[in-house]
Amino acid sequence: MKFFADTAEIADIKEMAATGLLDGVTTNPSLIAKSGRDFMEVTKEICGLTDGPVSAEVVALDHETMMKEAEVLRKIADNVCIKVPLTIDGLKTCNALTMDGTMVNVTLCFSANQALLAAKAGATFISPFVGRHDDNGSNGMDLIRDIRQIYDNYDFETEILVASVRHATHVLESALIGADVMTAPPAVIKGLFKHILTDKGIEGFLADWEKTGQSIV
Ligand code: E4P
Repeated sequence: MKFFADTAEIADIKEMAATGLLDGVTTNPSLIAKSGRDFMEVTKEICGLTDGPVSAEVVALDHETMMKEAEVLRKIADNVCIKVPLTIDGLKTCNALTMDGTMVNVTLCFSANQALLAAKAGATFISPFVGRHDDNGSNGMDLIRDIRQIYDNYDFETEILVASVRHATHVLESALIGADVMTAPPAVIKGLFKHILTDKGIEGFLADWEKTGQSIV
């Protein structure tokens, strides 16, 4: 399963890239606003930190203007992936961009039928939002299971990009279900490294090592 960082914070992306875990980055208008940076400038900088896809989202609601925005965004770098909302105009844009060889991430997916439509429109990635689903009283991971089944039934190449990931269990379940990608805030990814028994183990080994009076370097 590929790991994308769901952030526009350069320091966090650099840190994740150094671990070798970074397969791409997703941004959205809220994350850009939170960064306080210029959209084009920060997106260009992020594209230089990974060879993987960097999702940059259009903000227009109609197909024509979405295409104009996509035209500007895709000039930023070769690894820009245009993010469009799951609407009729969004999928028209997805279809046109895909035909043109541009990567497209269809975002704000909340049903398996929507995911089916996105795959038929040729999306590179479909982004089902599991956390927001959970917030709304349903089970976000059930949605991922359904989409996996549908995509496997028909051999769709669209990759399932689990989004709105809030905790380690979302990551674990995504991997068990066989999602292709998950995108998470850096804090969630950092949390995956942690285990109380790892910390305790290090503590015990170091205490015993001290007793030997030796040093390695
Ligand atoms: C995905 O591409 C979105 O940017 C993101 O995962 C949304 O997450 P949120 O529900 O935590 O805002």
